[in-house]
Amino acid sequence: MAQDNITGKIVVITGASSGLGEATARLLGGRGAGLALGARRQDRLSALVTDLVGAGATALWRPTDVTRSSDVERLVDAAIERYGRIDVMINNAGVMPHSPLDRCRLADWERMIDVNIKGVLCGIAAALPHMQRQKSGHIINVSSVSGHKVRPGATVYAATKHAVRVISEGLRQEVKPWNIRTTIISPGFVDTELPGSITEPDFAAESRKTYAALAIAPDSFARAVAYAINEPDDVDVNEILFRPTRQEFWKSRAARCPASLARLPLVIHLFRPPPGLPGSGEH
Ligand SMILES: NC(=O)c1ccc[n+]([C@@H]2O[C@H](COP(=O)([O-])OP(=O)(O)OC[C@H]3O[C@@H](n4cnc5c(N)ncnc54)[C@H](OP(=O)(O)O)[C@@H]3O)[C@@H](O)[C@H]2O)c1
Repeated sequence: MAQDNITGKIVVITGASSGLGEATARLLGGRGAGLALGARRQDRLSALVTDLVGAGATALWRPTDVTRSSDVERLVDAAIERYGRIDVMINNAGVMPHSPLDRCRLADWERMIDVNIKGVLCGIAAALPHMQRQKSGHIINVSSVSGHKVRPGATVYAATKHAVRVISEGLRQEVKPWNIRTTIISPGFVDTELPGSITEPDFAAESRKTYAALAIAPDSFARAVAYAINEPDDVDVNEILFRPTRQEFWKSRAARCPASLARLPLVIHLFRPPPGLPGSGEH
C-alpha cells in the first residue's frame, strides 16, 4: 500500500478488546500505524496483539479500565515510552445497558456515565498534555446515532452520547492553539458485543433481534476512522454520522416518512481548516 497519512502514526485505542475498537486496530495496524490498545479483558487484548504482530503490525497492550484515570494514563505513557509520541487518541470504550427510566437501574446509569462520559474525559486528560507539547495530535471520540436523537429506553445512553458530542465540540474549539484535530464518530447499528451490556432481559432480547436484522460489519466504523486520520493534516474532519442503509432513524419517525426516504443513509462530514490557518474561525 502506498505511503499515506496513517503509516507511522501512533494510535491509542480504548475498548480495543472487541467490536469497533478491535476492527479499527486491525485496519490501522494493517496500514502501518503503531498501536497501543487498552481494555479490561486482558486475554482478548493479548490475543489481538499477538495476531497483529504476527501479521507484521506494531502493537502493545495494557489492561485499562477507562473509569480509572491512572489506567488510561498508564496506557498513554506506554505508547510514549515505546514510540516516543502519540498522534491519535481514540476514546472508543462504551456500554449501552438500555432500560426505561422507571425501572430505576441506578447501577446501569452510573456505569454508562462512568464509562461513556468519564472514560472519554480520562482519555482526553491522558493524551492532551502530550499533544500540546508536540503541537500536533488527533482526538477521536465515539458517540452514536443516540448522540443525535433520544428515544424511550435509551434515555441515559443518549444523554451520555450527547455529552460526548458536546465535550468534543468544546474540545475542538479549545485545542486550536496546539494544532490538534478532533473527530466525533456516531455509528448506527454495527454488529458488535454491545447489546451484551444490556441487563434487562426484555430489552436485551429486543436489541439482539434488531441487531441481527440490521447491523453492519465493524469495518464500516474502522473505515470512517481511517478516513478521518488519513485526510491531510490541514483538514479537520469534525464529525461523521453513519448507519446501515436499512436503518430507519427511529420507528415512530420512519412511519411518517416515505419508505424510500426512511431507507436513505445519512452521512454528515463536517470539515474545518485546522487551528491557526486563515478561515479557522467559527462557522
Ligand atoms: N455497535 C454499535 O451499534 C454502536 C453504535 C453506536 C455507538 N457505539 C459505540 O461504539 C463504542 C464501541 O462499542 P462496540 O460496539 O464495539 O461494543 P463492544 O464490542 O461491546 O465493545 C466495547 C468495548 O468497550 C470496552 N469497555 C467497556 N467498559 C470498559 C471500561 N470500564 N474500561 C475499558 N474498556 C471498557 C470493552 O472492553 P472490556 O470489556 O474488555 O473492558 C470493549 O472493548 C462504544 O462507545 C459504543 O457506545 C456502538
